[in-house]
Amino acid sequence: MRTFCRILLSCLPITTCFITIGCVMTAGTESSATGPNGLPVWAYHIVDPVQPEVIELKGSVHLPGSAKEYDASVTESFKEPPDWYPDEHPVPPRVVAGGQGGPAWACGSCHMMSGQGHPENADLAGLPVGYFVRQLEYFRNDSRKEPARMNEIAKTLSDEDMLKAAQYFSSLKPRPWVKVIETAEVPRTYISALGRIRMLHPEGGTEPIGQRIIQLPVDPIRTLNRDPHSTFIAYVPPGSIAKGEQLVKTGNAGKTLQCVLCHGETLHGMGEVPRLAGLQPVYITRQLIGIQNGSSAGAGVALMKEVVARLSEDDIISISAYLGSLTP
Ligand code: HEC
Ligand code: HEC
Repeated sequence: MRTFCRILLSCLPITTCFITIGCVMTAGTESSATGPNGLPVWAYHIVDPVQPEVIELKGSVHLPGSAKEYDASVTESFKEPPDWYPDEHPVPPRVVAGGQGGPAWACGSCHMMSGQGHPENADLAGLPVGYFVRQLEYFRNDSRKEPARMNEIAKTLSDEDMLKAAQYFSSLKPRPWVKVIETAEVPRTYISALGRIRMLHPEGGTEPIGQRIIQLPVDPIRTLNRDPHSTFIAYVPPGSIAKGEQLVKTGNAGKTLQCVLCHGETLHGMGEVPRLAGLQPVYITRQLIGIQNGSSAGAGVALMKEVVARLSEDDIISISAYLGSLTP
């Protein structure tokens, strides 16, 4: 039996918040190595059953360069999410911005007003309108499965709101969001119950990366406060970026199809085929696994079936590492 009670995070001087750290007794059990149906658990950001600390955000929050001030309860709200930098994007429609009388699940809460989202959800910035609406239809008819959130959310949306959300997110220009770093050893981490964000373990230490991508916020408190300027680091296995580049550009002697054929010369998308450059590596892995095992099976992804048919988990990790390393 071990007791964890350490303070992991300290607020920036500019951010007023209090963090309560709880002490948790554990028998030292680790989360299982595989996720649902044997899928790699790390890609799904499943909350660790043992939470080594309890993080609670309280008080009034400010962010650098923003004139806004929100109570911490608002930064965690799905109904009325913060809009820290309103000058950086067009006025979001109500379905995105939420607020009084608005939807229970405003898109801007998880995906943020910048659209770039966190690793456990998805980057929507600049997605083609047609692609975007199609994904919502797939979620609505359950051909793409994300039962805890998107399936339910899509079922509550009118066609008009789907289009408004698609047009809004499509108009946004993505910025560099994830720095991809190759390493054999990663810091010890866990998935927090707060925001399903991966956090440094309060005990410290490192562990082998193995066949995983470990994506961490650069500043966890700013990320939890849904700061659209607070970026991520994705640790990937040594050699994976070059291996991924080879697969993406050449198809590796018929192992897969060259991504550039459909996703555009620079992988920034072509017509209604979406951008891959600079997407969050953990998300790319989840999508490719979903297409491979049929949990993402909308009619449009039929073209992708051949692409993923012969890819191993290791190939998928490498492809995700390379694509994530490109400027969006
Ligand atoms: C509670 C959090 C949450 C909210 C609120 C939310 N989403 Fe999502 N969204 C997710 C998650 C999680 C995924 C990733 C699903 C996956 O991994 O397949 C996602 C994925 C998506 C995708 C797929 C992106 C792609 O590249 O294929 C679209 C489109 C999308 N969401 C649109 C919306 C819209 C529109 C709204 C508002 C009506 C919304 N989301 C609200 C959590 C959320
Ligand atoms: C023959 C054309 C084709 C090729 C080649 C292709 N793709 Fe795709 N890909 C598509 C289409 C079409 C979609 C959009 C499907 C839809 O509309 O639902 C897509 C969607 C995706 C998505 C989902 C994006 C998101 O935001 O969720 C990923 C990831 C992806 N492709 C990765 C790849 C990779 C990696 C390669 C190369 C190894 C590749 N694709 C090669 C046609 C292709």
